Amino acid sequence: MTVEIEINPNSNTNSNPFCKDFDHIVFYVTSPKLVANYFVKLFGFKHYAYKGLETGSRDISSTVIKNNNVIFVLTGVIRPLHKEPRNRLIDSIHHHIAVHGDGVKDVAFKSDNLDSIVDNLISKNSTHLLINKVNDLLSYSKITEVNDKFGTLKYITINGINDTIHTIIDRSNYKGFLPGYELIDDEFQLKPLIELGSIDHCVQNQDWDQMISTCQFYKDYFSFHKFWSVDENQVFTEYSALHSTVMASENEIVKMPVNEPAIGLKKSQIEEFIEFNNGPGIQHIAIKVDNIIDSIKKMKDSGVEFINVPDSYYENIEKKLKLEKHPKIKESLKSIKKLGILIDFDENGYLLQLFTKPIFERPTFFFEIIQRSNHNGFGAGNFKGLFEVLEKDQEMRGNLTDQDIEHKLEKHVIEETETPKKKIKPVIKEEITDDDIADAINYLA
Ligand SMILES: [Fe+2]
Repeated sequence: MTVEIEINPNSNTNSNPFCKDFDHIVFYVTSPKLVANYFVKLFGFKHYAYKGLETGSRDISSTVIKNNNVIFVLTGVIRPLHKEPRNRLIDSIHHHIAVHGDGVKDVAFKSDNLDSIVDNLISKNSTHLLINKVNDLLSYSKITEVNDKFGTLKYITINGINDTIHTIIDRSNYKGFLPGYELIDDEFQLKPLIELGSIDHCVQNQDWDQMISTCQFYKDYFSFHKFWSVDENQVFTEYSALHSTVMASENEIVKMPVNEPAIGLKKSQIEEFIEFNNGPGIQHIAIKVDNIIDSIKKMKDSGVEFINVPDSYYENIEKKLKLEKHPKIKESLKSIKKLGILIDFDENGYLLQLFTKPIFERPTFFFEIIQRSNHNGFGAGNFKGLFEVLEKDQEMRGNLTDQDIEHKLEKHVIEETETPKKKIKPVIKEEITDDDIADAINYLA
């Protein structure tokens, strides 16, 4: 199957894009302080901001950590489910963790152009996708504006795919993190021991035949365009395959790859994710670094578990490097091999990357550490070798089981005969539900 998402001819020309960068990532977790400390100790983050009992937040605890431009928010609840008086936000966090496990809830973007995003939603008759604070619900096409001691913060929140949301923030007149949060001294200004740079891309796994409609969602409401794609003819192993399309913001700083499974002999890593996450969600976040050798070495010394790359990978890559044209790789191949880092390259540049094992209990979310040298790809040259490594781990978990191929083929044949429009299943929520409202109440306050 070849993916056809229209390439935006105006990419790179909009001086005021809808989304200009990643802002932060919110994880819903059972124990925010523990997870935050895990990231601090193992990945070099610094504590940045906090809200909890000490700041007057009676129900939610949120620890914010920062490493240069990478900001994570670890959010959890500190009161039981269904306690009276009922609070739907609290119940929805409990529900999210129970259904999906610890993981990503919100991929937040920076913007100086909220008015245009809302105008676009109005023009597409899609303001139902906006979720803002409860007292704004009657006029939910408006941007929420909060004034406090740090200045004025404006934001909107858009219902994403499945249970993931996107908060889009204009912080041009705001000096804090978010309303309700106290900054933690100046610890975050100290130089981190492990240097991370910024979020490079944020990947979501979709279920069967959901990739195109998901990409269309980002095109319609975020003005993203197709940046890169691969299909099952390029990404396959003996057992499984996938489709992937990368959608990018107008300035190509925000990149959101979208994966879906393709037909194979065994259950693919995407299907394993969908099973254990109970549906689509964020599979991995790639963090860009300037010195991957130094970062990976320090992370390994701290105890971060990365996938194990076999020696045969390096035998193949050394042959490829001898045969194919590429710029000089500045890093020592000996160090790259010793640390198990993956290499992908073309005539003009190269990238170095490595993936952690799943971070939480479920085999769902993980990190990628990536260093780019004039190379904007996503490691397609490594996909086959990488997926074979992932399948070994999948097998150890008892999840590399046979696919019901006849069922999948039958399903595919039926869908191939339908019109393309019919094939795109609706995945966007049509109305604001109680859960959406619950997510919105006090979300940022
Ligand atoms: Fe990636």
